Amino acid sequence: MELTKEKVLDALKHIKDPELGKGIVELGMIQNVELAGPAVRVTVALTMAGCPYKDQIKEEVRSALLDLPGIEEAKVVITTMTSEQRAKVFGRAPSEMEGMKQVKNVVAVASGKGGVGKSTVSVNLAMTLAAKGYKTGILDADMHGPDIPLMMGTKERPVGSGGMLIPLEKYGVKLMSTATLAGRGTPVIWRGPLVNKAIKEFLGHVAWGELDYLVVDLPPGTGDAPLTVSSTIPISGVIVVTTPQRVALEDVRRSIALFKTHDVPVSGIVENMSYLKIPGSDEVMEVFGSGGGEKIAKAFKLPLLGKIPLDPAIREGGDKGKPVTLDRESEASKIFDEIAENFLKTLQSK
Ligand SMILES: Nc1ncnc2c1ncn2[C@@H]1O[C@H](COP(=O)(O)OP(=O)(O)OP(=O)(O)O)[C@@H](O)[C@H]1O
Ligand SMILES: [Mg+2]
Repeated sequence: MELTKEKVLDALKHIKDPELGKGIVELGMIQNVELAGPAVRVTVALTMAGCPYKDQIKEEVRSALLDLPGIEEAKVVITTMTSEQRAKVFGRAPSEMEGMKQVKNVVAVASGKGGVGKSTVSVNLAMTLAAKGYKTGILDADMHGPDIPLMMGTKERPVGSGGMLIPLEKYGVKLMSTATLAGRGTPVIWRGPLVNKAIKEFLGHVAWGELDYLVVDLPPGTGDAPLTVSSTIPISGVIVVTTPQRVALEDVRRSIALFKTHDVPVSGIVENMSYLKIPGSDEVMEVFGSGGGEKIAKAFKLPLLGKIPLDPAIREGGDKGKPVTLDRESEASKIFDEIAENFLKTLQSK
């Protein structure tokens, strides 16, 4: 008996979307069935980008296909529903940026190059704002190095509800990572238009709820990656993180220029790894040189929001998933308090 499209659909009927509890065939998620001898390729459209059940659905579909008589090879292609298709499933069409509606301010943290402490600043700034009583969230938009969940000490995966992704919550801070978008173990090699589209959909579908501040850890660099995100969400201000070496400062220059060209407001600069306190004395050592942050700030007429020392407690906090600012009495907490205050001032003076 020849295998037909109908028979393939029949074999997939029992598979349910775990969030909606309905069959994926009934929901219209199977968008294409291609048969070629012993091979079959099925396209599954998920209800949202970054669907937490992506891997599970893909695996179930694949194994149901391989159970079909005469099938030796099965490929499952995953796409995302269009907004019209979503509207059919959910009975309404959530607007593109629905999840952001109650977010008052978006603070993006950027850096010209990697490894300067962008994620460390994002996490501790978010923790500090939360400690000050603001409703705060943190978005890990650095798909190439999604470190935020680790630094916040959570391995949980977000769940979906009503076509929206529900952020996790840790230490009173809501948290979402674009790692969710890529899926487990998927190397992130997306570029250009594909990333734009995926990020846009993803950002719109995170149910942040009411937030005073959403801190966004942008991808590093002076190219498309940070711009994609910052042109998708309405940013109140970008904080640019740098270290004092000259090489780092050149990248910062380019990074600030890029944001300015694209009308993304830059709030100020944070100099990280500025100095080392010599234990047991008042002396400090300027390991990477000095004055770099000040120079850049002056050149671009931007405030220097703060200088963070090299401090083993900061690294440990990140490694252990217990940000150093969790301890409100720590040295670092005082510095991040100052940075947060200085940043808040830049918003008021606008
Ligand atoms: N002020 C500091 N004192 C000590 N260690 C620090 C400090 N700032 C950052 N680090 C450590 O340096 C490493 C790099 O920091 P982080 O991951 O925040 O940088 P990043 O700019 O986000 O890097 P990437 O480009 O890889 O995302 C981490 O191990 C972090 O704990
Ligand atoms: Mg990082």
